[in-house]
Amino acid sequence: MTLEQDRMMRDGDGDAGVPLAGLAALEAASALALDLARGAETPAPPGSWSIRCGITPDQRAAAAALYWEAFGDKLGRVMGPAPRALRFIERVMAADHVLAAVDDRGQVLGIAGFRTRTGAFVGGGFGDLVAVYGRLGALWRKSCLSVLARDVSQQGFMVDGLVVAEAHRGRGIGTALLEALCLEAQLRGHRALRLDVIEENTRARALYERMGFTVTHRMQVPLARVLFAFGAALAMVREV
Ligand SMILES: CC(C)(COP(=O)(O)OP(=O)(O)OC[C@H]1O[C@@H](n2cnc3c(N)ncnc32)[C@H](O)[C@@H]1OP(=O)(O)O)[C@@H](O)C(=O)NCCC(=O)NCCS
Repeated sequence: MTLEQDRMMRDGDGDAGVPLAGLAALEAASALALDLARGAETPAPPGSWSIRCGITPDQRAAAAALYWEAFGDKLGRVMGPAPRALRFIERVMAADHVLAAVDDRGQVLGIAGFRTRTGAFVGGGFGDLVAVYGRLGALWRKSCLSVLARDVSQQGFMVDGLVVAEAHRGRGIGTALLEALCLEAQLRGHRALRLDVIEENTRARALYERMGFTVTHRMQVPLARVLFAFGAALAMVREV
């Protein structure tokens, strides 16, 4: 862990934090909440935040809302209407496949989901689609979603949804979540962190490039413009 990474894990107000003392715990129990920013005995000042592994049951609704806030405009045609999409996302979210930026009151400010061979942050199966959309609704949605499917066994450790609440962007939270994802990937024995970014999302792409990600290839997803309101996506990778 470099000093630069350590700095980015702390809150933005310049106070000293505990320098990642508990990182070994990540390996043993990734679902365990891990305060990367401060020791438990130090009262957190207002406005501070920290990165944690996993989300608690009472944070699920907020995490689903954040996910939809970021990706609803792309997923809306297929996964809408919004109340149903939120119900689906909240139902399938895997709490052990996400890192969360949480403030001193437990409010979720940002999430970084990930996908491995054993699961995804927002996955779910046909049964989940049926439970929320009914059998017919599930059938056509499954066909549409299949155009986005990727073979994870070929991809390794992948980002599955990175979002910071609009009011909290530009505070370094997204950068800290990505750095924490790199550590998570490393601790799970992966050599690289991969992500897909929509070609038009130039700000997010700039952030990834600044953090050392490079484009490996461009993916033209069939029917993506019609179904998901985007043209092409870029696959990016960074060694961890
Ligand atoms: C991309 C995102 C996660 C960045 O989170 P963040 O907490 O604002 O990131 P940081 O504060 O660490 O870094 C901000 C940098 O990210 C980039 N950025 C990307 N989107 C941004 C946005 N909407 N507002 C501010 N900065 C943004 C900028 O290049 C900025 O660089 P700067 O510091 O030189 O101004 C956040 O903007 C977001 O949730 N966007 C919507 C969802 C999304 O596009 N996710 C990525 C899908 S691949």
